[in-house]
Amino acid sequence: MVRIAPSLLSADFSNLRGEVADVEQGGADLLHLDVMDGHFVPNITFGPGLVGSVDKTSELELDCHLMISDPLTYAGAFAKAGADWISFHVEVAGTDPGRIIDAILDLGVKPSIAINPDTTLHRLKPVLDRLEMVLVMSVFPGFGGQDFIPAVLPRIKELRDLGFQKDIEVDGGIDPETAPLVVEAGATVLVAGSAIFGRPSRRDAITAIRDAATGVLSPAENGAEA
Ligand code: DX5
Ligand code: ZN
Repeated sequence: MVRIAPSLLSADFSNLRGEVADVEQGGADLLHLDVMDGHFVPNITFGPGLVGSVDKTSELELDCHLMISDPLTYAGAFAKAGADWISFHVEVAGTDPGRIIDAILDLGVKPSIAINPDTTLHRLKPVLDRLEMVLVMSVFPGFGGQDFIPAVLPRIKELRDLGFQKDIEVDGGIDPETAPLVVEAGATVLVAGSAIFGRPSRRDAITAIRDAATGVLSPAENGAEA
């Protein structure tokens, strides 16, 4: 099964309640929230306050992608605000990402590590069995609307070859053309910002990505009865 996670980064923030409702009713499986601190990435978005507001308006699970230099200090605030998943970047974790995973687990939140296109997957090896998800970046983080980097496709397969069986989320430049490529490589959660919020019908946009993605799966992989 493939799940679609619209990224609120490309939403109209003057109509946040409406935008969230639109994707929720349009078939979103998760809501992806891109938190940027202006330090780890050259852009600033929002913090736990907005995550809390979104949590009040939606039943969807909140998938918080922390593009911040100090996830350990702020994980608690995002958990309190209603995060169901927290992804932190391996690039900020130093030599002990396990410490941050422990903190996220203690908060009752599902832990995930995000990894940039040019960071070796071997950095994840020591902690892979403790993660609920790996977020494979298919653009360099910081901005929505960038072009998908095809060179990341073998990385998704490599992660499966390392034995990782939980969710692989892919983030950046996902649309109906790139979605089947990442799903074929082993992705199970697709983030899309501009390809959903940039379209007049969010329902049609989500359906187009889901249909394109599930078109490459076998009936069994699509959840059909054997
Ligand atoms: C990039 C963010 C992505 C981005 C996706 O730093 O992590 O979630 O908003 O946007 P699109 O789908 O427009 O590439
Ligand atoms: Zn993201």
